[in-house]
Amino acid sequence: GETITVADLAQKMALKGGEVVKALFKMGVMATITQSIDHDTAALVTEELGHNVVRADASDVENELIAHVESNEGDKVARPPVVTIMGHVDHGKTSLLDYIRRTKVATGEAGGITQHIGAYHVETDKGVISFLDTPGHAAFSSMRARGAKLTDIVVLVVAADDGVKPQTVEAIQHARAASVPLIIAVNKIDKSGADPQKVKNELLEQEVVAEEFGGDIQFVELSAKTGQNVDGLLDAISLQAELLELQAVAEGRAAGVVIESSLDKGRGPVATVLVQQGELKKGDYLVCGVQYGRVRALFDETGSQVESAGPSIPVQVLGLSGVPDAGDDFVVVEDERLAKDVAQQRDAKRRESRLVAAAGGNRMEDIMAQ
Ligand code: GTP
Ligand code: MG
Repeated sequence: GETITVADLAQKMALKGGEVVKALFKMGVMATITQSIDHDTAALVTEELGHNVVRADASDVENELIAHVESNEGDKVARPPVVTIMGHVDHGKTSLLDYIRRTKVATGEAGGITQHIGAYHVETDKGVISFLDTPGHAAFSSMRARGAKLTDIVVLVVAADDGVKPQTVEAIQHARAASVPLIIAVNKIDKSGADPQKVKNELLEQEVVAEEFGGDIQFVELSAKTGQNVDGLLDAISLQAELLELQAVAEGRAAGVVIESSLDKGRGPVATVLVQQGELKKGDYLVCGVQYGRVRALFDETGSQVESAGPSIPVQVLGLSGVPDAGDDFVVVEDERLAKDVAQQRDAKRRESRLVAAAGGNRMEDIMAQ
C-alpha cells in the first residue's frame, strides 16, 4: 500500500519532524523522521495533530489509470492471439469450439467440474491460442462501440452444405469494421451435400478472396463433427497470428476486459476476464467497471485454481464487490481504498449520465460510456 516518510508528512502540515515523531510515540508508534509509515497511521497522526485528511481526488487516480493502460510501459513480448468464432445459425460454431476444447483443453483434476466459461485457451504445437465463446456477445459490441479491440482474428464458420447466408455477410462486415483478419472455416465437409467450392465462389462475391484465387484469405475445409482437419485450422490461426506480430507488456499491473459475469450462489460475483496486458495475480486489488475488490481466487477454463494470468489469457476472477458488465474494463490498482474510490466515483458518474438519458437528454457519449 501507500506509505509516506515522517519528514514528508510533517512538511505537508508545516510542522517540525520531531513533533510528528512525538505524536506517533504517544500513539505507540516508534518511528524516526526518515522512516516511512503506512497510510492509515499517517491519517491517524494527522488527525491527532488537528489537521484534516484530504485524499487525492479519485479523478486524478482515474486519469493515472488511463495513462497506465495507454502507456503500456515495459518490455513488450509476443502474446497469444485472441480468436472469436462467428457464423450463420447452425453452421457449427459451438460444435467447433466444443471439439477444440474437448480435444485440446486438459481438464483439471480438482473436482473435475467442467463449468461453462465464455473463453478458453489451448496449447498447440505452434503456441497458445485463446478462443472467445461469445460471438456477437455484449462484450464484443461494447468494445467495438469504444473502438477497442477484443479479438485479433475472426474465424468465420460457413457450412459447406448451406453456403453464404445473411449472418455470414454480417460477420464479414463486423470483422472489416474492426479491421480484424478473417479465416474461413468451411465446415461440415463430412456431409454428402457438402460443396466447399461453392462456398469459395459465394465468398468471392463478398470480396473474401481465397489464396487459390489470388487473395490472402486462408480457407480451411474441416468437420467439427469428426474433427477432420481441425488441426489445419489451428495451424492457419497460428500462421495468421505470426503475421500480426501480436505483442503486449507481460509484467506489472494487469489490465483487460470482462468477457462475461454472473452472480454465483456460493462464490459471489464471478467475472471471466481477458487479461490484455500485465500479470493478474491472486491478492491484486482491482477496479472493474463500477465494481472493485481483491482477487480472492483465479480459475482457468478447467476449473483449476491458478496463481496468475498474463496477456491474452482468459481467467475467472472471484472477490469483486458486485457483478460487473460484460465489456467493462478492469485495472489493477495499488490498494483497496483507491479501488473503492475510483469504482464509487465511476458509479456516481454512471448514475448521473443515466439521469441525463432518462430526462430525455441524448448525450450519446454518455450512453456509450455505460
Ligand atoms: P447457433 O449457435 O444456433 O448459431 O449454431 P452453431 O453455429 O453453434 O451450430 P452448432 O454447433 O450448434 O451445430 C448445428 C448443427 O450442425 C448440430 O446439429 C451439429 O451437430 C451439426 N454440425 C456441426 N458441425 C458439423 C459437422 O462438421 N458435420 C456435421 N455432419 N454436422 C455438424
Ligand atoms: Mg452455437
